[in-house]
Amino acid sequence: MKRQLDRREFLTSGSRAGAGLVFAGAALAQADAPQPQPAPQPQPAGAPVRIGLVGYGKRGRSLISTLNALGPDVEIRAVCDVLPERVTEAQTALEGMGRPKPTGYAQGEEDFRRLCEQEDLDIVMNAAPWHWHVPICVAAMEAGKHTATEVPAAVTVEECWQLVDTAEKTGKHCVLLENCCYFRNAMMVLNMVRNGLLGEMLHAEAGYQHYRIANNVFDAEGNLLWCGEHEARRDGCLYPTHQVGPVGQWMNITRGDQFAYLVSMSSKSRGLNLFAAKHFGPEHPLATRQYALGDINTTLIRTENGLTITLYHDTQAPRPYDLIYRAQGTNGLYMGTLDKIFIEGRSQGDQWEDIAPYLEEYEHPLWKALQQNALGHGHGGGDYIMMYRLIKCLQAGIEPDSDVYDAVAWSVIAPLSEMSVADKSRPVDFPDFTRGKWRERQPLGIVEA
Ligand SMILES: NC(=O)c1ccc[n+]([C@@H]2O[C@H](COP(=O)([O-])OP(=O)(O)OC[C@H]3O[C@@H](n4cnc5c(N)ncnc54)[C@H](O)[C@@H]3O)[C@@H](O)[C@H]2O)c1
Repeated sequence: MKRQLDRREFLTSGSRAGAGLVFAGAALAQADAPQPQPAPQPQPAGAPVRIGLVGYGKRGRSLISTLNALGPDVEIRAVCDVLPERVTEAQTALEGMGRPKPTGYAQGEEDFRRLCEQEDLDIVMNAAPWHWHVPICVAAMEAGKHTATEVPAAVTVEECWQLVDTAEKTGKHCVLLENCCYFRNAMMVLNMVRNGLLGEMLHAEAGYQHYRIANNVFDAEGNLLWCGEHEARRDGCLYPTHQVGPVGQWMNITRGDQFAYLVSMSSKSRGLNLFAAKHFGPEHPLATRQYALGDINTTLIRTENGLTITLYHDTQAPRPYDLIYRAQGTNGLYMGTLDKIFIEGRSQGDQWEDIAPYLEEYEHPLWKALQQNALGHGHGGGDYIMMYRLIKCLQAGIEPDSDVYDAVAWSVIAPLSEMSVADKSRPVDFPDFTRGKWRERQPLGIVEA
């Protein structure tokens, strides 16, 4: 495979594994279009969706709990993890929920291939570390299964093309499990945009602003975790899909509009050294080493239709959690940080308005219908609504709310921003993963429960 990078090399060759490797993988040219396959068929009426899960860490546990809440609509048939004790833990947890014991796969880091090939499944979901997402998704689709991956879908431009090529060749769904698209305020904004409240869309601002060094970058014993390996060696907007997923749906990205180019800039990196010095001591190797990722990365995107987006990646400096979610059009704007709105002709003077009456008017139909079931599940209920929709779409044989083109359009911001940061914020063009289809593809509608 000409475009495939060795993912273990990325994680082990410290000096080369940052921008250099990403540049090496930046094959922006289009591949030959594989022949499209027939659309997936509905499942037999009432049949559960049969699922295999790869990766039973923090997120895998949460996904199992959300899936379990969908009752007889799902059957979790197989679980894979490199750590055998995690597979046993998953089996015990599912039995404790009154479910059959899933088959376990724990024979090394490529054992997901056996799961994909041997199990009778409709979909393989993965909550493994980032560098395994593409190998797992590709193995699943090539074994005739749909796939749904945790975020981001891919780490390099090369990997994005691999997902597109494989989804097109096999006709299987490749869905990003982007739960933020199902957040209550994000869906309310989608409903407002579809109903014209904000006017014509002009701009959005969103940020992954989440101080999350403990348990994500370092463990309590002073080791660098897999996520920390990325932060140590890469500089850019490394985790872009929570910010840009909802924005992409508001702006019809890959469905009438397309990201055209971005520029990206990072501040210096201080937070990881300061955190390590405070928790492990000033002489600890994690306190004295260099980290690539700047504490605050800012990325600007312009779309083909002239809309603009500001994205922040801000995870290393102490701060409250805030995804921002500003959506601005020709009539006014919603500002998620404040949870307030301004609409010309409706709001008084130049004052923000409380969102409550608007929420009543523009609550998304999925939230109206599912709120009681969703609340109490992860991320304010967004995890439940995401999983509910995916499972219902699979059962009905209809297109999920997002597809492989969305997954890669949102994920590729990470490697493209790395290129821009490494080259004095120069503009970097987005590849057209849809091969021109974005002009005809229909925007996501206001889907019902
Ligand atoms: N959508 C969200 O809100 C959200 C929240 C947290 C994490 N995530 C995503 O979920 C994924 C997992 O994150 P996490 O925090 O659970 O990480 P984690 O380290 O807690 O869990 C990862 C698990 O994958 C296993 N694993 C590693 N390599 C594997 C392989 N080759 N085959 C099978 N299993 C393998 C590990 O043993 C571990 O159990 C990441 O992509 C992350 O970005 C998403």
